[in-house]
Amino acid sequence: MSASYEVKESVAVITMNNPPVNGLGHATRSGIFDGLKKALADSAVKAVLITGAGKAFSGGADIKEFNTPKTFAEPNLHSVIAAIEAADKPVVAAVHSVAMGGGLELALGCHYRVAAPGAQIALPEVKLGLLPGAGGTQRLPRVVGVETALNMIVTGNPTPSEKLAGTKLFDRMIEGDLMAGAIAFAGEIAEKRPLPKVRDIRINFPNREAFFKVARDTVGAAAKHFPAPLKCVDCVEAAVTMTFEEGMKVERDNFLALVQTTESKALRHYFFGERAAAKIPDVPGETPKRPIKSAAVIGAGTMGGGIAMNFANAGIPVMVLEVNQEALDKGLATVRKNYENSLKKGRLTQEKFDQRVGLIRGTLSYDDIKNADIVIEAVFEEMGIKEKVFRKLDEVMKPGAILASNTSTLDINRIAGFTKRPQDVIGTHFFSPANVMRLLEIVRGAKTGKDVLTTTMSLAKKIKKIGVVSGVCDGFIGNRMIEQYGRQAGFLLEEGCLPEQVDRAMENFGFAMGPFRMGDLAGNDVGWYIRKRRYAERPDVIYSKTADLLCERGRFGQKTGAGWYDYKPGDRKPYPSQLVNDMIINHSREIGVERREISDPEIVERLVYALVNEAAYILAEGIAQRASDVDIIYLTGYGFPMHRGGPMFYADTVGLPHVVTAMEKYAGGRHGKFWKPAPLLVKLAAEGKTFNE
Ligand code: 3HC
Ligand code: NAI
Repeated sequence: MSASYEVKESVAVITMNNPPVNGLGHATRSGIFDGLKKALADSAVKAVLITGAGKAFSGGADIKEFNTPKTFAEPNLHSVIAAIEAADKPVVAAVHSVAMGGGLELALGCHYRVAAPGAQIALPEVKLGLLPGAGGTQRLPRVVGVETALNMIVTGNPTPSEKLAGTKLFDRMIEGDLMAGAIAFAGEIAEKRPLPKVRDIRINFPNREAFFKVARDTVGAAAKHFPAPLKCVDCVEAAVTMTFEEGMKVERDNFLALVQTTESKALRHYFFGERAAAKIPDVPGETPKRPIKSAAVIGAGTMGGGIAMNFANAGIPVMVLEVNQEALDKGLATVRKNYENSLKKGRLTQEKFDQRVGLIRGTLSYDDIKNADIVIEAVFEEMGIKEKVFRKLDEVMKPGAILASNTSTLDINRIAGFTKRPQDVIGTHFFSPANVMRLLEIVRGAKTGKDVLTTTMSLAKKIKKIGVVSGVCDGFIGNRMIEQYGRQAGFLLEEGCLPEQVDRAMENFGFAMGPFRMGDLAGNDVGWYIRKRRYAERPDVIYSKTADLLCERGRFGQKTGAGWYDYKPGDRKPYPSQLVNDMIINHSREIGVERREISDPEIVERLVYALVNEAAYILAEGIAQRASDVDIIYLTGYGFPMHRGGPMFYADTVGLPHVVTAMEKYAGGRHGKFWKPAPLLVKLAAEGKTFNE
């Protein structure tokens, strides 16, 4: 029974106790239900208080129970709330820390609510592709007003409890000892009758039609591939136009429909995937961490400046080291400009601006960085230069400093071998722009110390990144997979596509950007340089030369005003390029490939299954710890459509036997060898299993 029961001063106190966030799973619901029954049967009890132990009132329904019979097992959340509402003694919720989703709905079912300031109040179901399913859409508008409630429900964002003081949500804010204050409050109202019920509050809302029209237009435009936000609007409107019971039915029907959708399952997969990524099976949670109070970055280029900003944003002083004053000044000027833009847009206060800019300092001397707790190297992607830098770092850095590399493809074990302290060396692969993108691939070398790994994982959290562990291989998880995606995109150009068709197909599938627009944004020269090294090392790999031809023409993308597309000065919009399209068609002719019509589904299958197949090798080799890590990398670092849950989740929803069949079909075509399904994929498909089990 995950709830305790005690009687204090004639008040029965039911404390939910289901760490870490008092999720309302079956045992917790039963605990509340039984406690309530006991309290109502005890003539010495005058009032009931419901609260949560530890760091939450309640984080809401237990998401792990969704799509299992446990969600509906009695007492379900509806029955618990109905029993509370129908109680003939007053029930008071004592809210603190976190009251979210079903937790807030439980409180709304109580006759009274008191709260500590600083509690996060939210109905975040929409972030899981759902809507509040236990009366939240009907009760919240009755206590905080339609506009505030709708805003909370469609964004899912938390509001601090003190901001809601003065609404009917809270009968009293309690500073200091919440329990003492709540028991005193319960004593004061114990004899009051009738017991107030939120459901009885009448909503008077003029201008309903105009309000909900604007709401639908705004929410619909932002919701894109997700059905839930508009359904939230429908339910709140029902709260205004219908009786409470009718509104509850609308809410329930919509909730039940949404919980079955792939979009909601994808978002729940993301929620748990993000948390699973933080776990490393052979590194226990209690592994000691090294303190990180100062940092250094080597190289103030595209990545170095952005990486330094992350530290400054988290309040950690950071020194940036460059080869010469000119490069240093240029890098620091870019950082300053980024902060100035945020200041101008009102995203940063002057005080924060000064603080952050003040935390980043430049230097040309290793002597100035030798005491940093962590140093991240972000110099050119060339092993020779990395070697020079790491030998120097080994010589100068204090013992115990973490030596990290931002390399996007190179062998971390070789880099570690340039030092006498390979246990201190790790890969920290940021994504561009490094101050914006949430993903951080953390590359664990063969000799990386467990304390170094766990310190870097918690640093990721501190600088607001999602850290995902990768083993060592060329390109790690993300870029190793994207190589295969890029190879297929190149073959498609040779066989009949033009860049705009491929991009359109992938963007319609839901990618933020198709591969060619992405190349133009990131710089086509980056891939060109990598291909030169990679395919010199692996001459047997076949790939399309179209991208090389493009780079030979100096068309590196937006930064050179021309790439796969043409660009006009000051305009990021891509315009199809006759020159590039002719180049592609001529190339097909030169290599003797007869161009053909290629359908959008073929484009999507070939690009996405290329990712999936490579990931299956990556999983089998233990480079990725779990399939959901691959999904998190693609969702947060590569613009994979969130509503599809990542490549592995997507393959699972398509059905792995279908994926294998499609690959077998392509195996009969050009470069058929590419399409040999990975043994893990074949095995899972044959066993009727999925990647994410
Ligand atoms: N159900 C099941 N598990 C949950 C959970 C929930 N509602 N909320 C959190 N957890 C688990 C997490 O998976 C994690 O598990 P782990 O330790 O095994 O990885 C653990 O609790 C701690 O979570 P966090 O790492 O996120 O802890 P934080 O302290 O950073 O954040 C929180 C706490 C703000 C409550 C955050 O966990 C959160 O936002 N949770 C989701 C809240 C939510 O979406 N609630 C709505 C649920 S749906 C609902 O209520 C339907 C109803 O309307 C019928
Ligand atoms: P960049 O060319 O923009 O910047 C590199 C900087 O390093 C230059 O300012 C250069 O002056 C400096 N530098 C070179 N040698 C140095 C040395 N010995 N000591 C100090 N500074 C030195 O390169 P970018 O794009 O920032 O890449 C840096 C690293 O990050 C590379 O390993 C790259 O593969 C990786 N990376 C790049 C991404 C991108 O999108 N650009 C994404 C993820 C990783």
